[in-house]
Amino acid sequence: VTNTGRMPGEELGRRLRAAGVEVEPISWYPAAYRWPASGPKIGSLLEFAAGLYTIQEEAAMLPVRLLDPRPGERVLDLCAAPGNKAAQIALALGPHGTLVANDRAHSRMASLGATLDRLGTLNISRTMVDGRTFPAQPSPFDRVLVDAPCSCLGTSRKSPGVLERYTERAGAALQAIQRQLLERAVELTKPGGRIVYSTCTYPPNENEGVISWLLGRRDDVALQPARVAGFVSRPGLTEWGGVSYGEALANTLRVWPHDNDTGGFFCAVLERR
Ligand SMILES: C[S@@+](CC[C@H](N)C(=O)[O-])C[C@H]1O[C@@H](n2cnc3c(N)ncnc32)[C@H](O)[C@@H]1O
Repeated sequence: VTNTGRMPGEELGRRLRAAGVEVEPISWYPAAYRWPASGPKIGSLLEFAAGLYTIQEEAAMLPVRLLDPRPGERVLDLCAAPGNKAAQIALALGPHGTLVANDRAHSRMASLGATLDRLGTLNISRTMVDGRTFPAQPSPFDRVLVDAPCSCLGTSRKSPGVLERYTERAGAALQAIQRQLLERAVELTKPGGRIVYSTCTYPPNENEGVISWLLGRRDDVALQPARVAGFVSRPGLTEWGGVSYGEALANTLRVWPHDNDTGGFFCAVLERR
């Protein structure tokens, strides 16, 4: 994704092609390019070191596309480390917006700092607290991203070990944390504001199950359709394994690896009433 604070997307495209990297524009994300598999290592170019672009796996760009941060807004990234989505948000907000990038893991915040310092973004505050009890006055944010801790099964092509490590018990423990993070995110969002919940995993209890639980519990939040034209996705599940999540859950989005040659993903878009 181009650091548009430094140069327009087309100019970055020209520079990368001049350096011999045949990047193609991604139709559904402004000023973003697909790096060719045959290209050099993506972080090996001077343009990268100079902070002219930031890197993201294609499916992992969806949550910020759906969050749709606008210049000048105030946005919270509740689980932000190592900072790839925070970088996308900071670039979209521009110099008059503010991103609060939070993560409870101090060790993972170092790479967030390195990425954002490299890009030279000045619109970020970093916090390191448990997102479930993120301290703030009610509803200070226009938009909140909950890129939740999860069982990461959607990354199994890159990291096959996740499949061996997965247990239903661990999934249930994650679900408890995911619910609390999402509910806190709703409380922190202004009426009319947007919340995006995302994971890189498949088990429905960490995805549709979390959203369905929230909708059953609060009437100040509404599920919005999550679709991105130009990227193949599937509707979320309305039932699984004898558990009914409700027809509205078809508005959530699932990404299967074979559709776009990416990792697996889940996203839901909620509006605070
Ligand atoms: C999927 S990763 C986030 C990836 C990040 N959004 C990005 O794009 O680079 C989930 C993060 O949630 C953090 N986390 C786990 N439990 C948390 C909690 N209770 N409060 C805040 N962050 C938490 C983890 O430390 C981890 O960095």
